[in-house]
Order: sequence, then structure tokens, then C-alpha cells
Amino acid sequence: MVAMRMGEINKLAEKINAPVIPCDVSSADDVENLITKSMEHFNGSFDFILHSIGMSVNVRKGRHYTEIDYGFNSKTLDISSMSLHRVLATCMKKEALREWSSVVALTYIASQRVFPDYNEMADAKALLESVARSFGYHYGVKQHVRVNTVSQSPTRTTAGSGVKGFDGFINYAEKMSPLGNANAEDCANFITVMFSDLTKMVTMQNLFHDGGFSFTGVTQGIIEQMEK
Ligand SMILES: NC(=O)c1ccc[n+]([C@@H]2O[C@H](COP(=O)([O-])OP(=O)(O)OC[C@H]3O[C@@H](n4cnc5c(N)ncnc54)[C@H](O)[C@@H]3O)[C@@H](O)[C@H]2O)c1
Repeated sequence: MVAMRMGEINKLAEKINAPVIPCDVSSADDVENLITKSMEHFNGSFDFILHSIGMSVNVRKGRHYTEIDYGFNSKTLDISSMSLHRVLATCMKKEALREWSSVVALTYIASQRVFPDYNEMADAKALLESVARSFGYHYGVKQHVRVNTVSQSPTRTTAGSGVKGFDGFINYAEKMSPLGNANAEDCANFITVMFSDLTKMVTMQNLFHDGGFSFTGVTQGIIEQMEK
């Protein structure tokens, strides 16, 4: 069953004159239907896809990382990571993406460094980034389609606020980033750039969109806090 927060989605859909197509990404039939209906809407193939999906069943059930349920875990990986593979494989089969199309998936740095409370989503994001690289190779060779992940700062959204101790976490990232945290609008702007042909030779990358957080060892702000 797919639950959609229709109010907000419908407002956006009206604004940009887009249809809303329900899809549970863990269902092959739903993904097939999503791509078919999208092709109907665009009168053929299209140029971009944004994968902006994440869901951790173990986090929802309050399971600690060391005591996860493996059934829940495979659902998490299916929804959060392999869904990118399923969407790309379906597009490839149906020839849904044009030459030089651009696909972006959103990820988080917990895939590469430990953030203990990110739980199994750290592994899910590592798999997502790997799928982007692997499929990016094959889609690139076949049709010049590019696939990248954007590693975004912590951002106040439904999924973001699900991370335990989110306030401390987002404030810490803010202090650890020379430019501060990138917000949702900054993220949308960067994705637009990634959809543009001006970045047409960029593929199979994990691109940090985090105000410099990922390459900062420590900041003056954090040192001052530690000296208090
Ligand atoms: N918020 C942050 O701090 C942050 C930071 C880095 C990356 N991200 C990533 O950004 C992406 C979007 O997350 P968000 O922060 O906007 O939160 P969000 O909760 O608004 O988005 C998660 C989305 O996943 C969808 N989803 C869940 N299960 C699904 C399923 N089975 N089929 C189809 N859709 C499903 C939900 O409907 C929701 O729209 C996620 O990949 C998230 O991991 C978020």
C-alpha cells in the first residue's frame, strides 16, 4: 500500500503542471507503471530523474544497529538503495531516458564515515552510492546516461528529523562546515546544475554538497566549544 501526503504533493503538482503517480519503489509493477505513465506524460523519453527516497525499518522500530532485524534490513536496502537499480533497469528496458540524460540520487556522508545514530541507513547509503557507480558505468557506455549521488548536509525534513538527536547533529554540522549547512533550496539548486548539460561529463561521482563539512578536520567554533 502506498500512502501519500496528498496535500503538499498536489500543491506542487498544480504549480508545475505535473501528474502525481503513486509508486512503492519496492514493487517492480509500481516502478514499471511509474516509468510507463511518465513516458505517456512526456510523450516519449525524458531527460532527468531525481531519486529522493530513504526509509529505515529498523530505525522506525527503534532497533539499535547492533541488534537489527535482518528482515527489516533487507526491506530498508530494497527501498533506500536497490530502488535506484530497479528504476534505472526499468528505464533501460523501456528506453525511457534520452542520450546524455542525468540521474541524481541523494545520499549522506554516513556512508563513508561513522555517525553512530544513522544506524543501518549508513550501509544503505553505501550501497546506493555503489549502485550509482556501477549502473552509471553501464548506462554511460550504452547511452551516455550519467548517474551521480549528491551527499547533502543534514536538512530539516521528515527523514532528517527521524535521526536520533537531530538537533545536536545539525548544529554540530553547522559549526563544522566553513560555509555552514547547505539547506534544501541550496540542494535543489545544485541538483539543477547536475541536470544541466554544463555538467555533461560528470558521472559515477559522489558529490559533497555540504558547505565543506566532509573535508574539514576541525573548526575554530568547535575548539572554542571544547574549551568551555
Ligand atoms: N534530511 C537530511 O538530513 C538528508 C541528508 C542527506 C540526504 N538525505 C536524503 O534525501 C532523500 C530525501 O529525504 P528527505 O530528507 O527529503 O526526507 P523525506 O522523508 O521527506 O523523504 C523520504 C521520501 O521517501 C519516500 N519513500 C519512503 N518509502 C518509499 C517507498 N517504499 N516507495 C516510494 N517512496 C518511498 C517517502 O514518501 C518520502 O517522500 C533521502 O534519500 C534522504 O536519505 C536527507
